[in-house]
Amino acid sequence: MSHGVFLSFEGIDGAGKSTHIEALASAFRAAGRTVVLTREPGGTPLAEKLRALALNDPMDALTEALLMFAARRDHLLQVIEPALARGEVVLCDRFTDATFAYQGGGRGFDTQVLATLERWVQSVDALPAGALRQPHLTAWFDLDPAVAAQRLAGARVPDKFESQPQAFFARVAAGYAARARADAGRFLRIDADQPREAVWRDLLAGVRGRGFLP
Ligand code: TMP
Repeated sequence: MSHGVFLSFEGIDGAGKSTHIEALASAFRAAGRTVVLTREPGGTPLAEKLRALALNDPMDALTEALLMFAARRDHLLQVIEPALARGEVVLCDRFTDATFAYQGGGRGFDTQVLATLERWVQSVDALPAGALRQPHLTAWFDLDPAVAAQRLAGARVPDKFESQPQAFFARVAAGYAARARADAGRFLRIDADQPREAVWRDLLAGVRGRGFLP
């Protein structure tokens, strides 16, 4: 049986990751793998309810972080861990790096508290005590917040995060950069300020280069 593979996809709103996640799912399926395509916050009925609250209702940063991690715990136990145990490929649109970037960077919330929540939530039965479930690889679609703002302008009706000012996204982007520096081996930085085909080429090359796809 194949080993389970857990890949996450990150970037500020407007970085354009969604179409590439779908394309990568097709590439894994073409290679004979079973793929679970999922997202955070969300991915289970409970977590999708928490998503609707977190993305639409005003709340303080700790409440927001707790909802993100509550949704994540349910998603991990109900969807991600069982899929990895079956040897499947989990492609997850955002994971914990988004909490460090948005709640930690964007909202300025204490990252030590986030790290404590991360330890609680990502300790799972399949791993030895002290080890945390993390993506094997995180594709980070890095984009200048000014370019992202242009892309988002006039798109769909923005949610609570998408309607934040550019300065918020500059802090989110800095949050992602800090997280990538702290765990460089896990991150695959993709320059998202390129034509779509070039972004796709870089993503595919990175995923192949790390040995996840033939
Ligand atoms: P999406 O628009 O990419 O589906 O992401 C939903 C929004 O939720 C996006 O603006 C980022 C935000 N978010 C957080 O603030 N914290 C988190 O932990 C996650 C997973 C997402």
